[in-house]
Amino acid sequence: MNQSKRIKAFADEHIPALTRFMLDYAQQAHQPRLAAAMQYSLAAGGKRVRPLLVYAVATTMGVTATPLDHVAAAIEYVHTYSLIHDDLPAMDDAQLRRGQPANHIQFDEATAILAGDALLTDAFALVAGASLPAAVRSALTAQLAVGAGSRGMVAGQMMDIAATGSSTPLTRGELVRMHAHKTGALLLAAVRMGATVATVSDGDTEALDDFATAFGLAFQIRDDINDATKSSAELGKTAGQDAAAGKNTYVSLLGLAGAQAALTEQLQAARRALDRLSVPAPLLIDIVAMLG
Ligand code: IPE
Ligand code: IPE
Ligand code: MG
Ligand code: MG
Ligand code: MG
Repeated sequence: MNQSKRIKAFADEHIPALTRFMLDYAQQAHQPRLAAAMQYSLAAGGKRVRPLLVYAVATTMGVTATPLDHVAAAIEYVHTYSLIHDDLPAMDDAQLRRGQPANHIQFDEATAILAGDALLTDAFALVAGASLPAAVRSALTAQLAVGAGSRGMVAGQMMDIAATGSSTPLTRGELVRMHAHKTGALLLAAVRMGATVATVSDGDTEALDDFATAFGLAFQIRDDINDATKSSAELGKTAGQDAAAGKNTYVSLLGLAGAQAALTEQLQAARRALDRLSVPAPLLIDIVAMLG
């Protein structure tokens, strides 16, 4: 991942404190083994792109003094749960995640399922407990639920599982829809949640949605390309799993060059959407560049 100095400084300002907050919050689980399994996957790191989007969108739209750790933690909790469940034997059956054994390998399958359940559910307690007006918390709750649930990430995971190993590959349109749900929906929720704590005009709301949609698709195309081109050490997850499992990806459908062209197209669309904002968006431009 390319990180500009500016976005690195911004991340340094927010992410270490966010990680401490998430780990402290998980410590309150009423079973030590559950707390340990939640903390294990949270502490393993990851790029923290969704929290970064929450902080960066809010900052871009003029929010400076509002504490956002509850909101940023909520979306990273949901994302971390999605990875734990994605790796389970019944799903992608992956052994390595964020550079260490997957949760169900380090603990066991039942514990991994429960750690995921707890992270998902506690995410909503985090939003409910944020120091924000009730109407804002209510809007955030809906955005997170839509991004995560049966109209969002989980729907995309269902499409992925149903199409894996199938003799009829997905069409490009179906692949776009799958990626938009399994990965795009939560990234869109992150952007919308960052915007919801600010006061944003209709025009800016539309531009941010267009940015998030293009960024979300670009993010999963980059993930598909990485799986085919990078090493397990670089990825912190086992390389080449998509081809081995018969996954429908941009690389399986279009080849590497086609996937790269589609990535470039979406990154340009994301930047064009940011150009339409009424304010400059250097942090968001830097986040787009991370996928370049
Ligand atoms: C991996 O997400 C799964 C996808 C949605 C592509 P990330 O690439 O954000 O994973 P971490 O959080 O950095 O580990
Ligand atoms: C997963 O997509 C998207 C999620 C909702 C977790 P992948 O299955 O491609 O993610 P990785 O490559 O295992 O991180
Ligand atoms: Mg998967
Ligand atoms: Mg996977
Ligand atoms: Mg992948």
